[in-house]
Amino acid sequence: MQQETATTFENQFEEEVYQGLTAFPKHLSSKYFYDEIGDKLFQEIMHMPEYYLTDAEFQIFENHKDDICNAFAGGGQPFNLIELGAGDGKKTKILLRHLSENDIDFTYEPIDISQNVLDGLENSLQKELPKVKVETWQGTYFEALEKINASDGTRKVILFLGSNMGNLLHPQAIAFLKHVQELMQDGDLFFVGLDQKKHPQVILDAYNDPAGITSAFNKNVLTRINRELEADFYVDDFLHWEVYDPESGTAKSYLVSKKEQTVSVKKLGLRIAFAPWETIHTEISQKYDDTTVAWMAEQSGLEVMAQFSDAGDQFKNYLFTKKKN
Ligand code: AVI
Repeated sequence: MQQETATTFENQFEEEVYQGLTAFPKHLSSKYFYDEIGDKLFQEIMHMPEYYLTDAEFQIFENHKDDICNAFAGGGQPFNLIELGAGDGKKTKILLRHLSENDIDFTYEPIDISQNVLDGLENSLQKELPKVKVETWQGTYFEALEKINASDGTRKVILFLGSNMGNLLHPQAIAFLKHVQELMQDGDLFFVGLDQKKHPQVILDAYNDPAGITSAFNKNVLTRINRELEADFYVDDFLHWEVYDPESGTAKSYLVSKKEQTVSVKKLGLRIAFAPWETIHTEISQKYDDTTVAWMAEQSGLEVMAQFSDAGDQFKNYLFTKKKN
């Protein structure tokens, strides 16, 4: 591999792409899938018949909204319902509607990195659920959570849905849980959606659809590097490849170079050589079971207070409290 050293990086994207493409084996972070095109592709993924996760969590909310909302309401004091990475809030609206119809006193506080997403969500809530009090927070999860904590001592119910935590390896996920736990007070709740271990073929199908949407989503990271870092990846020379290890519950996405090739990333001063069939690891989508979730909670000072699943036990939502000493 020939490379010239880029002296400074303008942002984290540049630095992580540099590190990932000069590492062995090569890797890129799935957080960079999500530009405007990637956001649209992910919306399409959530509507695919093979991507069961969204429907399963939707079903959990529909079937268990009474119990979930009662748990959120606790002793009846007002609370802030804080959502990490709110997106279009489609599933959350089931719970918001139920809370609102039952005159439960709460404020919905979605956090998202994109102000655009938050504006869209706020507008749609004004039309669909005008009674719901909404306060949006633009920024990273922890920046916003810290600000919320500083500004307001109200009880918190924090939502982290859609198996987003599954895009983190166990040590990172535990660090994430610990950070949330440190920001929780006694009586606060943390409600997390986690995809479950199941027939391996079902998982492989969810991440390798015949229409090629997941493939386009995975390859979008290369298109983004082309556009933002003046690279010349020819995406058809890479194969989207999914593997699932039923023992660890880890699904992994790769981009595999179909031939020997050299790609230049002008903005980083890099020329990257690929051997035939060399890989770039791009995403992990962790699948869980109750034992693993209990272990992770234990490691992070949390306790599972309740859990809710869909009819086929494909997906579960866990309600965590801070562990009492
Ligand atoms: C956002 N995240 C939970 C999705 C997942 O299932 O890992 C992203 C995704 N990747 C491929 N399909 C969907």
